[in-house]
Parts: sequence; C-alpha cells; structure tokens
Amino acid sequence: MSTSREHFSSKIGFVLAAAGSAVGIGNLVGFPVAATKNGGGAFLIIYALFVAFICLPIMLAEMSLGRRTQHSPYKAYAELGKGANRWRLAGWLATITPFMIAVFYMVITVWIFGYLFQTLAGNLELIAQPDYFGTFVNDYSFVFYLVAVLLIINTILVGGVRQGIERASKILMPTLFVMLLLLVVFVLTLDNAMEGVKFYLVPDFSKINGGVINGALAQAFFSLSLGMGILITYGSYFRRRDNIVSSGKLVALTDTAVAFTAGLMTLPAIFAIYPDTNPATLSESSVSMVFSFFPQIFMQLSNIVGYGFASVAAAIFFLLAFVAAITSLVSIIEVPTSSFMERHNVSRKKSLLVMGFAITLLTLLAATSFGLVPWVSNFVHYAGADKSLFDVIVDVFYETILPLNGLIICLFVRFRWKRANMAAELAEGNPDYQQTFLHKYIDFAIGTFIPVILAVIFANTV
Ligand code: PHE
Repeated sequence: MSTSREHFSSKIGFVLAAAGSAVGIGNLVGFPVAATKNGGGAFLIIYALFVAFICLPIMLAEMSLGRRTQHSPYKAYAELGKGANRWRLAGWLATITPFMIAVFYMVITVWIFGYLFQTLAGNLELIAQPDYFGTFVNDYSFVFYLVAVLLIINTILVGGVRQGIERASKILMPTLFVMLLLLVVFVLTLDNAMEGVKFYLVPDFSKINGGVINGALAQAFFSLSLGMGILITYGSYFRRRDNIVSSGKLVALTDTAVAFTAGLMTLPAIFAIYPDTNPATLSESSVSMVFSFFPQIFMQLSNIVGYGFASVAAAIFFLLAFVAAITSLVSIIEVPTSSFMERHNVSRKKSLLVMGFAITLLTLLAATSFGLVPWVSNFVHYAGADKSLFDVIVDVFYETILPLNGLIICLFVRFRWKRANMAAELAEGNPDYQQTFLHKYIDFAIGTFIPVILAVIFANTV
C-alpha cells in the first residue's frame, strides 16, 4: 500500500469535496422540476427513501472499497478482485465512465460559463432571446469559454487533494450555500411565489407510477455521484481513523438538502413569472430549462424589479450553477487523472496534462454535435432518431452505465470482497458500527434486493 498517497486533512474537507461532487445542475433544476411534475411531496418522500435505503449503502460500499485499497477504481477492483478478468473489467468500466461523463459535463459547464460571462457583461436581454441558445451552441466563442474553464479546473486539480480539491471545496461550497439562500429569499418575496411552493410540496400520490419510481431512483443515483468511480477515488483519500459512515451520511444529507432547497428557488421563480404554468408542460431536460427557460424568466423579472436588479439575480444564478458544475467536474476528472497517475507512475501534472488533453479533444468533438459538423450531429441512428455524439454519451453513460456500475459493486461485495470485510472496513474509525441497525440493514440489502432493483433500472434503460 502506498504510503505517499495524499489524504483529505479533515472529515469536513472530505464532506465538502464529496458534496461538491454531488451537488450539480441536477440538484438546482433537474430535481425540483422532476418533483413538481411527479407528485410534489409524494415524489420527495419516495426520493428520500431511495437515498437512505438504496443509495447510502452503495455510497458506503464505494467509499470503503477506496479506503481499503487506497487506490482509484481500476487498481481497487484489480487488487481486491485478485486480478480476475471480470473484476478488472469492472475497474476499467469505473474509469472510462467518469471520463465520458466528464466530456458531456464539460460541454454543459462551458455553456454555463458563457451565460455567466454574458450576464456579467450586461447582456441578459441577448441571452433571453428565444433562439439565442440555438445560435450559441454553434458559436466558436465556445473555444474561448472552454479555455477559461480548463484553466480553472487545472488550477484546482494541480494542487492535489488537500491544496487543490479540499481547499477549493472549502471556499466554493459555502459560497454556493449562501448564493442559493440569497436567491431563495429573493424569489419567495415575489408575488405568486407561494403557488410554486404549493406545487412543489403538496403531495399527489395519484401521479406515482412505475416510471416515476424508476425516475426517482435514477435521479437519486446521479445526484449522489454514484457509479462514477468518484467515491471510490475520494474514499481512497480517507485516513484510516476517519469515520466513513458518518461522512457518507452527511454527504447524502447535504446533497438532498441542497436539492430540496433549490426547489424553493426554481419553482417559485417559474410560478411568480408565469402564474398559469401547468407543471406537466415543464421541460424534462435540465439543459433547456437552464439555457432557454431561465434566461427568459430573468428577463421577465426585469419588468418587476428593473433590468439592473434582474441582471444581478441572473448573474448570481449562473454563478451558482457554475460553482455547482465546476466542483462536480473537478471530482469526475480526478478519477481518470488519479488512475493514470497510479497505473503509469507519473506525476499529477503529467497525468492532468494527458487526461486534460484527451478530455478536451472529445469535448470539442461533442460540442460540435449541434449542427456544426454533420457526422457528429447525426452520429448514430437508433431508437428511431438521429442521435448526436453528445446525446449518445448522455444516453449510454449517464443513463445506462451508472446503474450498471452500481449493480457491479453490489455483486463485487457479495461474491468477491465479502460483506464481512466491507463491514470491517466501515467499522474502522467507527468501532460501534457492527452494532448498528444500518450495518444489519446494509449487510442484508446489498447482497439481495438492491442489486435486483438496479438490474431492473439497468434493463429499463437499455
Ligand atoms: N451529481 C451531479 C448532479 O447532480 C452529477 C455529476 C456529478 C455529474 C459529478 C458529473 C460529475 O448534477
């Protein structure tokens, strides 16, 4: 076991870094909209149950696998899997998944940066034009924004675990909380805001069906950054004396609390501006909400509070989204970066250079998915439609491979690593763990119904 591996300096450092990974655009827009469309409070209850009973055990499995081996996913699976090919494959999948997700998340982060830049330049009116987004995605200014985002990420990641990821999270996450609360307070003072709160919170159990339940679990899974190798990698930066269980619980709680709180911003804002909104007609996609719908909301807001104030609110919103996105992006690029460092025994700088270069190339390619380059825009034809490279990455990796990776870690714990060993790892830094209900629950669930549920989700997405 390498002794030189860097570790988080404190539990709060880990919690903020992992929460930084978990809190993303999915929390700010995806979750609130999904909740409002799918039964409000009823969705919230189901979501919370999934987080506690399905996602938390998987999160703890990932973290403990990382800390046990002190390795990133590839080596972690290889070492504990005793070199068996199927577990090597699992490790490989857990490394390539974050790489591909990094590509599409990078595209979105760059767009957010572009919108932030435009709002700061006083161009809210421009980005609120209905066809702006369509033009924006095919504009070469993308490259300029991409370079800026790459510089920011590089500055954070080159600092390593403590001086980079941990330090950035300690500054960025509290900033994110403050901005979110500011916007919530502001939005709740608008007329009609309470209509939105009502749609968001009043439970309507008649909306709950198989599809909604499936969607809630998938959303919880993504939101907590599971199945991406991130928590294995961050777990490997844990010291032996740290309590993984309480840290995992805190991360899950923070992520869910931010998603919940974001609903008190997103929905009231929509209903304050468009009181007759029918929740069923809200867009399913966070991308179109953030880049088309929200700028229009801020523009309408200027009729109420004036252009200057609306521009400030819009800038805070895009800065909030940018901070949420950048802390997620950092965590996901860290996985291939640290894996490459480990496998090829190279410095962090070199590894970042190689990975950064590869991800940038693919990002540039994926960014031409919207008409600029025809073969990328019509990359494949499946499910009865032409899919762009960007769509393919989202469909394959975001929707299908994540639950598969969750399923794999359950099988790994059940058949190879063994539940007793995982429990012993969780008990380090937490001596009473094996007496708790959580232990008994995880011991049972992770080898029985959790993998079955994930297999069903996986089957539904292929
Ligand atoms: N958890 C993020 C969200 O909710 C998703 C994500 C995390 C994506 C890390 C990429 C990297 O938006």
